[in-house]
Amino acid sequence: MTDAKPGAKNSVTLTDNRTGRSWEFPVLDGSIGPSVIDIRKLYAETGSFTYDPGYTSTGSCESKITFIDGEAGILRHRGYAIEDLAEHSDFMEVCYLLLHGDLPNAEQKAKFVHDITYHTMVHEQLQYLYRGFRRDAHPMAVMVGVVGALSAFYHDSTDIADPHQRMIASHRLIAKMPTIAAMAFKYSLGQPFVYPKNDLSYAANFLSMCFTVPCEPYVVNPVLAKAMDRIFILHADHEQNASTSTVRMAGSSGANPFACIAAGIASLWGPAHGGANEAVLRMLGEIRTKDRIPEFIKRAKDKNDPFRLMGFGHRVYKNYDPRAAVMRRTCYEVLEELGKKNEPLLDLALELERIALDDEYFVERKLYPNVDFYSGIILQAMGFPTSIFTVLFAVARTVGWIAQWKEMVEDPEQRIGRPRQLYTGHAKRDFVPIDKRG
Ligand code: ACO
Repeated sequence: MTDAKPGAKNSVTLTDNRTGRSWEFPVLDGSIGPSVIDIRKLYAETGSFTYDPGYTSTGSCESKITFIDGEAGILRHRGYAIEDLAEHSDFMEVCYLLLHGDLPNAEQKAKFVHDITYHTMVHEQLQYLYRGFRRDAHPMAVMVGVVGALSAFYHDSTDIADPHQRMIASHRLIAKMPTIAAMAFKYSLGQPFVYPKNDLSYAANFLSMCFTVPCEPYVVNPVLAKAMDRIFILHADHEQNASTSTVRMAGSSGANPFACIAAGIASLWGPAHGGANEAVLRMLGEIRTKDRIPEFIKRAKDKNDPFRLMGFGHRVYKNYDPRAAVMRRTCYEVLEELGKKNEPLLDLALELERIALDDEYFVERKLYPNVDFYSGIILQAMGFPTSIFTVLFAVARTVGWIAQWKEMVEDPEQRIGRPRQLYTGHAKRDFVPIDKRG
């Protein structure tokens, strides 16, 4: 019998029906949510691995940061509901909460905001790195390169064994990511880079760096700054998703945090993950008019057609994504402020959502709008081109990645991530010289 982890009261028995042998494995309970079967000794005791491509049944780590109940449509950070954080808090507080475990008091918040604000500038040399990219490069390609290169600029915060260096690296990443993202945006437009302004909030500063041009003053619209801040909150963390697991996996080898976050950005880029917000807008552009919706719904249901309804469905949520609900409200606020209340794209999206949520295919599979369904409409209305959408997601998610990375590095049980496989290739073959191969 396997040694149960202290506190494990229950166990499950595994029986091999080929030999009749049985083993018992402890069941570990979290504070809330599904239990896990602790199979760490499975291979040592049974000689078999588990097989779970896509990790649908695998808990890869222990974490205290984010809780999701996908069936009920619940998302909480450190115990606080995402709806409450989006309504009553701000992104700086959420960053502090994710990193430190509790909401800050006034003094802690002031110090944190100061620490982040005074790290927003990037090394001046970094701009030459941008100039090496083609102007038409996808901004996510630029982000992967530039963020990875940060480890070549900030050597004094790459010793992951030093808690102070870990903290400095965390602050640098959260602080510099908007600057780096705005520079990627400006570079793609062929406009000069804009330096950060320390008298602006995190979100307002980001908008200023994106939309200021040297020839005229730019005043940040407070409604848009508030909406941007909320978008950042809604994307801040989401448990062990593909990009976060990538960050943890990269970090498990002891790689420095800048390199790990660059790996996370690469993973986020894919259309099945953070790239979906860009894909939603492309899809709405393709659908164009309400009367064409049924045709696209039909295509989404057709197994021989690769088309999927972008911004719909989620690995974990089998209910309305709570972030999508807040995003929809924010969408109305932004469009109203910009005098675009009758934006045809929103109308089209609402109709698409209505038809899909009424369709047996989507109902049966519990496919609901996810966070990406409405974010693109807001961002486009604000003036961002679609190619920058996923970059904004990366700015917001950096705090989640870094909080998860920090939690992993500080976990005494942390080991290098090294999954195994079900090998189905040749067993053994004799080498054939090239003149004897058919
Ligand atoms: N449109 C049409 N059918 C869909 C969709 C969709 N958007 N999503 C899932 N399905 C169907 C699948 O074809 C499958 O049907 P089947 O059981 O008949 O074979 C069933 O629903 C289950 O889908 P899976 O692909 O097995 O679900 P998985 O959990 O692996 O994928 C994912 C989740 C990738 C998000 C998927 O729903 C998808 O591709 N959605 C569109 C892209 C998207 O919006 N991604 C953003 C996710 S949120 C985020 O990353 C921030």
